[in-house]
Amino acid sequence: MNALDLLLNRRSVARLTTPAPEGDVLQHILAAGMRAPDHGALRPWHFVVMKGEGIDKFSQLLEKAAVEGKLGEEVEEKAKNAPYRAPMIITVIAKVVEHAKVPAWEQVVAAGCAVHAMQMAAVAQGFGGIWRSGSWTEDPVVKAGLGCGEDDKIVGFLYLGTPVLKAPTKVSMPDLTNFVSYF
Ligand SMILES: Cc1cc2nc3c(=O)[nH]c(=O)nc-3n(C[C@H](O)[C@H](O)[C@H](O)COP(=O)(O)O)c2cc1C
Repeated sequence: MNALDLLLNRRSVARLTTPAPEGDVLQHILAAGMRAPDHGALRPWHFVVMKGEGIDKFSQLLEKAAVEGKLGEEVEEKAKNAPYRAPMIITVIAKVVEHAKVPAWEQVVAAGCAVHAMQMAAVAQGFGGIWRSGSWTEDPVVKAGLGCGEDDKIVGFLYLGTPVLKAPTKVSMPDLTNFVSYF
């Protein structure tokens, strides 16, 4: 797959199953995240890889957050089941620091670029994935459970695995004139 084909035609995949990326494939995914553009070479991110028992622990953590947040049985059930939508989840945390030249927003954007790079690296190696977020990214129980500091921000949960169905390849491209101007 060439780079342009990947960037233009890749699709997110919500239905994922085993196998998950492992070995060199996983290392390439993590290394792609590490190569995200990064003002000041701060590497303002941390990747939490969950697989197997890690997914079980994440399920328990989301359930605990729902219980402690008194969000009701329906949300508890949803929370508990959510992590099982893929055999691997990489949580990407922006580790934001005070910096004279690199404001917080740039560090969060850099961490977001890491999510995208990891998703692309997964697709390039024959796997599928989807970047998810939701209210759990802001939940204090979830943040503490994943080792976030006070200024850290969870920018996404990258669900990874093998697509259950062949991903639809047709991607519709919006009219560029609505999004682009030439100055
Ligand atoms: C920051 C961010 C958070 C997202 N959160 C979710 C989410 O929680 N659930 C979801 O279904 N899609 C979410 N998406 C969108 C999907 O990752 C995906 O981009 C979308 O389904 C469009 O599919 P495509 O990537 O094939 O164009 C999010 C995207 C971004 C950039």
